[in-house]
Amino acid sequence: MSADDAARPPPLQRIPPQIASIADYAPFARERMGDAAWAYLEGAAGEALTLRDNRDAFDRIRLRNRVLADVAGGDTRVELFGDTLDFPILLAPIARHKLAHPDGELATVLGASAMRAAMVVSTEANTTLEDIAQASQSPLWFQLYFRHDRDATLSLVRRAEAAGYRALVLTVDAPVIGLRNLALPLGTEAVNLRDLPPHPPFAVNPGQSLFDSPLLVQAPTWRDVAWLREQTTLPLLLKGITHPDDARKALDTGAAGIVVSNHGGRVLDTQVASIDALPAVADAVAGRVALLLDGGIRRGTDVFKALALGADAVLVGRPYVHALATAGAAGVAHALHLLRVELDTTMALCGCRTLADITPALLFRG
Ligand code: FNR
Ligand code: LAC
Repeated sequence: MSADDAARPPPLQRIPPQIASIADYAPFARERMGDAAWAYLEGAAGEALTLRDNRDAFDRIRLRNRVLADVAGGDTRVELFGDTLDFPILLAPIARHKLAHPDGELATVLGASAMRAAMVVSTEANTTLEDIAQASQSPLWFQLYFRHDRDATLSLVRRAEAAGYRALVLTVDAPVIGLRNLALPLGTEAVNLRDLPPHPPFAVNPGQSLFDSPLLVQAPTWRDVAWLREQTTLPLLLKGITHPDDARKALDTGAAGIVVSNHGGRVLDTQVASIDALPAVADAVAGRVALLLDGGIRRGTDVFKALALGADAVLVGRPYVHALATAGAAGVAHALHLLRVELDTTMALCGCRTLADITPALLFRG
């Protein structure tokens, strides 16, 4: 930790009264997080075009409101893999919450539990998946990266099953976590991986092609997904799909769900914005499995637009970590509350009593 980082203000005990939307948490988090941790959290691949487009694409879509509808007694409930969620907003898997708050994932899961929201726990959490499960009163899903060694992958799956996780989310858009241009800050441990063999290092020697490196030679393929599908009875979601042909392959391979995602713009720059990729994937999926989206969700109107274009639920990423850094568990709960109330408001103003009423007819594209 640098001297500069040590001088940073601690998390607040109360929610700052200035906070009116989740984006307002960012400057409070910036003050409280070290420079390297902040750079990692906010980071994106390349020129950050996809990161920006995730937002801009939402902003290009406008709503066509409906008036005088009777929406009293409505709700935002959604059923996913046997659990009924009060609202269709989950916490996306994000590595290393101790970079944002000393209590890390335990604070996050407390905030999620207070709102009865589901959380997707990252393989690279700073807290063991068992300790997070112990502290949770909400459904938890476990995000998995393939390890190069199948036994290592399987050991994580067995631990998630034993700890009561409700689904597995296999992230498939970063075939090798090293294949990207984000630096990982030192100083926090991915404790779930403590006893597992490390990934091959990301290094391509001069004169060698990436295709011949251990990283790509051992990278997972659809065959590994089919293998994993056979190993567990937990529902398996694939996260990081944007192409409808891959969505079809996912269904053929027995996936129980798809997360349309570009990893928050962190892997392949100039990749299509999540919300722009959604309609074609929704067509391919045709309601056969659960469809989720993440990337750029900042307002209840964004949640509404994603649902109108075919998602069953969405995940929010960086903003809840900003709230975590600012005010711990209370911040996470408050961020979810703000998004939820914005979704309720949007639905009421568009004449929707339930999520099923949210249709493309309520969107306007000029
Ligand atoms: C991520 N994301 C991610 N995804 C995943 O499958 N496993 C992981 O461990 C992580 N870790 C991670 C760390 C950090 C710092 C960020 C910002 C993101 C991607 C994440 O789940 C999600 O796809 C995006 O963050 C969604 O975009 P927004 O909401 O941040 O715009
Ligand atoms: C990231 C990895 C851990 O986005 O998924 O930083």
